[in-house]
Amino acid sequence: MKRQIQGVKACVFDAYGTLFDFSSAAHRCSSVPEEKRDGLTALWRDKQLQYTWLRTLQGRYIDFWQITGDALDYALESLGLFDPKVHSDLMDLYLNLSAFPEVLGTLRQLREAGFVTAILSNGTPQMLNAAVTNAGLDSVLDFVLSADDVKVYKTHPRVYEYALEQLDLRPEQVSFQSSNSWDAYAASDFGMHVVWCNRYEQKPEHLPGSPDAVVRSLDQLIDIIEPIPD
Ligand code: 2OP
Repeated sequence: MKRQIQGVKACVFDAYGTLFDFSSAAHRCSSVPEEKRDGLTALWRDKQLQYTWLRTLQGRYIDFWQITGDALDYALESLGLFDPKVHSDLMDLYLNLSAFPEVLGTLRQLREAGFVTAILSNGTPQMLNAAVTNAGLDSVLDFVLSADDVKVYKTHPRVYEYALEQLDLRPEQVSFQSSNSWDAYAASDFGMHVVWCNRYEQKPEHLPGSPDAVVRSLDQLIDIIEPIPD
């Protein structure tokens, strides 16, 4: 039986929320009261993303580590939790996020099937390398690509274009996987094949783009994406 997405050379993944569980930082932080961890995770993430979009619009780039720190300060202040020690504990934990359980096995399977594997993320190279090493993913990833090299954030098309330049591929030779719906729709609008990993059971977006497939977990990818034969 033909798989749904044909002619793919590279499987490219978003990092935060797709490969790495950003909620694991607050959930492993003993200095944050248990009942505040979910709220902190949600506000921290919302502000982090808003700051990437706003700074890209304004042409006021700072790297994702600084954005993550600024967003954390906002979230901690809003929840009455601000303390420099809590800030530094959470930032350390953000460097060592857990990978979702199926990630290592899926990346290994995709590489064995002949795909090039890559990350394309807003994270800085230092953040991404720390997360990759901590999760034991070094040997199953061919490329770790950071928006920091182009100094704008997703969903600016320059970020997706940068991945194609680095991989030396055309958009239709890439399958991009993201659990962030806005990222999935933008990569699809850019021309890549897209699998939206809808981990959080969100409703479809009303934005340009249309993901080729929607899954709940990345272990479904191998049944959906067909590599180009050598
Ligand atoms: C990324 O990894 C922020 O999840 C987004 O680029």
